[in-house]
Amino acid sequence: MGANITFTMIKPTAFKKNCVGKILYKISEAGFRVVAMKVTKLTKAQAMKFYEIHAARPFYGELVEFMSSGPIVAAILEKENAVEAYRTLIGATNPAEAAEGTIRKECGTNIGENAVHGSDSDENAILEANFFFAQTERF
Ligand code: CMP
Repeated sequence: MGANITFTMIKPTAFKKNCVGKILYKISEAGFRVVAMKVTKLTKAQAMKFYEIHAARPFYGELVEFMSSGPIVAAILEKENAVEAYRTLIGATNPAEAAEGTIRKECGTNIGENAVHGSDSDENAILEANFFFAQTERF
């Protein structure tokens, strides 16, 4: 059984496409509790740091530019086995390959602008949550 939190960001294109409400509705319908949430905009330096695990990948520069290009919603979500449950809800990284009804299928644009980020492990969920939220911002 996995741990009970995951971290997500609603990415700039989904924000611009007015998909925030739809995504939050899907999250709540799937039984996640919002522990913390904010609207913010990453600086280029913050985006580089957040995605530094991908620094050697060919798409890193594009990813950093995109993620710092506009407002995002950052959130910590709680549910049993949260990381896996959320990855099922969002679908495959590439929206074109994501299952029907998933967030990326319905709100994603392409593999880079894929609507939302979701943590890929319990360890990363904790690191990513700590990147954005102080303990006093969690409820
Ligand atoms: P995310 O879950 O935020 O984690 C890393 C991101 O890198 C991923 O979603 C994609 O948006 C992006 N990414 C992964 N593969 C590619 C790719 N081949 N080209 C562009 N972006 C990619």
